Amino acid sequence: MRDLSDDLLEWYDVHARAMPWRVSPGAKKAGARPDPYAVWMSEIMLQQTTVAAVTAYFQRFMARWPTVADLAAAEDSEVMGEWAGLGYYARARNLLKCARAVVADHGGQFPADHAALLKLPGIGPYTAAAISSIAFDLRHVVVDGNVERVMARMFDEHTPLPAAKPILTDHAERLTPDQRPGDYAQAVMDLGATICSPKSPACGICPWRDPCAARLAGTAAELPKKTAKKPK
Ligand code: ADE
Repeated sequence: MRDLSDDLLEWYDVHARAMPWRVSPGAKKAGARPDPYAVWMSEIMLQQTTVAAVTAYFQRFMARWPTVADLAAAEDSEVMGEWAGLGYYARARNLLKCARAVVADHGGQFPADHAALLKLPGIGPYTAAAISSIAFDLRHVVVDGNVERVMARMFDEHTPLPAAKPILTDHAERLTPDQRPGDYAQAVMDLGATICSPKSPACGICPWRDPCAARLAGTAAELPKKTAKKPK
């Protein structure tokens, strides 16, 4: 039987956003896999920072320290200097700690194991899931704001965030396929970032337009609902 994920993966194969940490479609056809070091670096940089802001930093880091062993051997001050401007400097300190732990405890290879990734400095549940799925194609569910929005709309879920989080995570979990979970995770993020955008979703060109409950109900642009923040 055809799954919903098949329609999304077919769309992703044509429309994936080009990003320097992703494998190009041509290389992918030839069997190339993402570099776990590059995936990890991108995921740390993308915490609290946009793809547009991260791209140049990512390229400079990878040019200067092409492997995790190169980064582990860097001086703290060099890494902090290269990070300047990205903000949230605890990320840079943990980046170095993590690189050194990968070299010291894992022979310079990121472990292809969610529990082992979680033990590394700076890697929390979201990042461990992202690295497991994107770098190693393990079936882990990656839920960021884009994914929450897509799920809220697919299932016309009106429970406001943050209370809706476990419900939306459940939906995301059920839709994640056994095949190509890493591409699938990035496909949902790309769908949320491009077509299923917050204000004016482009439902007419969405690969999930037919099964989307919010499109049917005419509520897509209102979702996800959010509990109003208390005034300070
Ligand atoms: N946000 C975090 N990781 C991402 C990725 N791999 N692709 C797109 N957006 C992301």
